[in-house]
Amino acid sequence: MHQGVLFCLVGLPIHLLVVAAPTLNNSPYAWKRNNNIGKFWHISDLHLDPTYHVTEDRTKVCQSSKGYPASDPGAFGDFMCDSPYELIVSAFKFMKHFPQPDFMIWTGDSPPHVPAAELSTKQVIDVIANTTNTIRAFFPTLPVYPAVGNHDYWPQDQLPTTTNEIYQAVAKLWSHWLQPEALATLEAGGFYSQLIRPHLRLVSLNTILYYGPDKVTENMTDPAGQLQWLQNTLEASRQNLEKVYIIAHVPIGFLPYAMETTAMREVYNERLVEMFRNYSDLISGQFYGHTHRDSLMVLLDHQGKPVNSVFVTPAVTPIKNAREPYSNNPAVRLYPYDPADYGVLDVWQYYLNLTEANHEGSSAWKLEYSLTQAFQLADARPESLHALALALAQPASKAFQTYFRHFMVSYNDTITCEGACKTIQTCAVMFLDHDSYFACLKGGKAGVRGTD
Ligand SMILES: *[C@@H]1O[C@H](CO)[C@@H](O)[C@H](O)[C@H]1NC(C)=O
Ligand SMILES: *[C@@H]1O[C@H](CO)[C@@H](O)[C@H](O)[C@H]1NC(C)=O
Ligand SMILES: *[C@@H]1O[C@H](CO)[C@@H](O)[C@H](O)[C@H]1NC(C)=O
Ligand SMILES: *[C@@H]1O[C@H](CO)[C@@H](O)[C@H](O)[C@H]1NC(C)=O
Ligand SMILES: *[C@@H]1O[C@H](CO)[C@@H](O)[C@H](O)[C@H]1NC(C)=O
Ligand SMILES: [Zn+2]
Repeated sequence: MHQGVLFCLVGLPIHLLVVAAPTLNNSPYAWKRNNNIGKFWHISDLHLDPTYHVTEDRTKVCQSSKGYPASDPGAFGDFMCDSPYELIVSAFKFMKHFPQPDFMIWTGDSPPHVPAAELSTKQVIDVIANTTNTIRAFFPTLPVYPAVGNHDYWPQDQLPTTTNEIYQAVAKLWSHWLQPEALATLEAGGFYSQLIRPHLRLVSLNTILYYGPDKVTENMTDPAGQLQWLQNTLEASRQNLEKVYIIAHVPIGFLPYAMETTAMREVYNERLVEMFRNYSDLISGQFYGHTHRDSLMVLLDHQGKPVNSVFVTPAVTPIKNAREPYSNNPAVRLYPYDPADYGVLDVWQYYLNLTEANHEGSSAWKLEYSLTQAFQLADARPESLHALALALAQPASKAFQTYFRHFMVSYNDTITCEGACKTIQTCAVMFLDHDSYFACLKGGKAGVRGTD
């Protein structure tokens, strides 16, 4: 007995003993005792609001509240506002306590949610420069792989299919992290790929070109030639026996909180989903942001077999719309991965209880959950996420209550999600294309049918 316990303790990654991390010492899963697992950070949707300041008149706290009163403003922000700089700095200070992981992915959206008239091309570039330089100041030797978001342009959402001031500016700002070949396509179309580990290629897509509000790309079959480029890139990776991580801002699939709505235009969603199925044997993970909420998807092939794990990370900004009951606490996450095949092993989701931080006047970022612990999964590979998806769809599923609490980063435990709310959540987890998703909705229950 004692020997077993000792073995587990000495096998623990050192950092678990140093900072708050999942307690893995009683886990049955071998990978958790392996010192050689890789790790990377995922941050998204920082949305810095430089106008944020605590003041008597709550309608004047931040421009991003658009005239609505802040709810409970404090040093680290407010649920009606985008991030004060101090919130972003508190996240990076927390992340700096960890032993440095292999790299970081950053899925876009630096500027605040304010009307177009209150920003300009120069201001958008200045905010992206600010977040980029802040990341570099905290993590001077960490490789960082960004993707462009719909707010990383002026006017927002209108990302073009050809080179422009902003793609050129980000190619310059991110030149410390990217190689010349990646910078060339970034500058031309806002996307790139780069070999980032032995036999691991990261593909950073500009999915804003497929986003409904982007009028520039309306009716185009292949904006900026990105789909053809993606196909060529994946084909080359297959030839070169590479694994691939896909990162982008706007995710594939259906929104977990809106009935019958894909995050991007449906026609592009269908094409991407089909391409990802086709190359699922090399795609070891897909990582997105944009929704500001925490959700999972598992891509099934046409036989209903789970083939890809898809992760949507919640935002750093806590902002919500005035009419919306949901928000999210500020969040950043770490993924452990298997260096042998780059399979994702877990999600370690960290968060700041914003209400508490403001009241205490200090920021105690902590672990919200470990995916494998919260749902008793072996890892975060497609088979495991599929088992979770089936459990979420069960009537009165305890797992679903937990999943839904995480969806808002533990913002408000008393909000419940039943009936149609639960159906659109659970159908979105497993059904990423039009036909299978609508069949799921019709069934009224997710998971009762495959996708043949
Ligand atoms: C970013 O902007 C904030 C104000 O919003 C400023 O205090 C900070 O110094 C800037 N940081 C960098 C690295 O530009
Ligand atoms: C796209 O096609 C629709 C329907 O044919 C048309 O009404 C619209 O003007 C087109 N948009 C652009 C930007 O060409
Ligand atoms: C699927 O993969 C095959 C072989 O790699 C390729 O020829 C075909 O064009 C691909 N189709 C799609 C939609 O990606
Ligand atoms: C966050 O802090 C508030 C205030 O202290 C508390 O009421 C709430 O339960 C906390 N939320 C979580 C998820 O711990
Ligand atoms: C939490 O949700 C409940 C139920 O929807 C609501 O009555 C309450 O005001 C919410 N609390 C906060 C802090 O938003
Ligand atoms: Zn955003």
